Amino acid sequence: MKIRQTFIALAVTAAALTAAPVLQAAEAPVAAPAAQTVKAGKPTVWILATGGTIAGVAASATEMTGYKAGSLGIDTLLAAVPQIHDIADCRGEQIANVASPNIKVDTWLKLAGRINELLAKPEVNGVVITHGTDTLEETAWFLNLVVRSDKPVVIVGAMRPATAISADGPVNLLNAVKLASTPEAKGRGVMIAMNDVINGARDVQKTNTLRVDTFQSPELGYLGYFEAGNPVFYRASTRKHTSQTEFDVTGLKDLPPVVILYSHVADDGTLAKAAVAAGVKGIVHAGTGNGSVPDDVFKVLKGAVEQGITVVRGARVPNGPTIRSVAYFEEAGLLKAGTLNPQKARILLQLALTKTSDPKEIQRMFDEY
Ligand code: SIN
Repeated sequence: MKIRQTFIALAVTAAALTAAPVLQAAEAPVAAPAAQTVKAGKPTVWILATGGTIAGVAASATEMTGYKAGSLGIDTLLAAVPQIHDIADCRGEQIANVASPNIKVDTWLKLAGRINELLAKPEVNGVVITHGTDTLEETAWFLNLVVRSDKPVVIVGAMRPATAISADGPVNLLNAVKLASTPEAKGRGVMIAMNDVINGARDVQKTNTLRVDTFQSPELGYLGYFEAGNPVFYRASTRKHTSQTEFDVTGLKDLPPVVILYSHVADDGTLAKAAVAAGVKGIVHAGTGNGSVPDDVFKVLKGAVEQGITVVRGARVPNGPTIRSVAYFEEAGLLKAGTLNPQKARILLQLALTKTSDPKEIQRMFDEY
């Protein structure tokens, strides 16, 4: 599909939004304002684009899965939802344009640096990041730990490509800009605005491969909802984040190598041995139940700790914390991930290892963030 046709499809989708009650001064969706237009008296929100399905293009409006993520640029995305310019002075910037399984640490470091730079400016009210949904929770959690500001940071994606009939990207972007413009959103950590709910970066998980309600915070709950298009908060995390963080990635080029080992019946420790041989600095073991480790794997992990590798017990079970279990796990120096899922435990361990390899200190970080 040519970009011009795509743009028209996007503009049509955007037009359907003008009747939304949130837009009190609903106007006909005439020519989309230029992405960098400045409107006096409105909050300033920067939108940093990284790709994903929200910028995805398929061959037809009914194609929901076979599409190319990360196809449209930031200017097209912003022009397709003219209503965001009624809420804020929206400035766009392209950081990357990839499907999110291809997000790498250099993109995270670039994002973190740019967000910290932007939010340090008094005239910037908030930042929105457009992102693929596959690894959205990981980028959200990384930023939750390294952004040093109270100002709202909102990540948004879509489950249906921009060309789809009933695409979810435009309304998600509109909600994200609303949230980033809202003073009550300050100090809540990095948030995810999708499907009319607000999730916090710490507890959110992608829970469904296909559905638009895929982002959930099972057990610990949403931070809030969009009610009649406006963000309303019901909950706040008690864990440290953003402005309370001790992590600083300024000047880093990479993060320490940490892998996840996914437990299964008859695991004989082959991958654990390979991880140690590869020279990793940390291992997150996604164990069965309350972070259980099969005896054959335990022998390898115990040896890894003795060599100075930090090992964290997480769980492949989607809900509930990984806590103290049999004494010999503690005695061997295996740490506990708490309610962080393995992919988030990995990120916290990477950041922890930029500061220390002291197991007590690292466990403290798992208990506080
Ligand atoms: C991606 O994560 O980039 C593809 C899937 C999506 O955005 O929903």
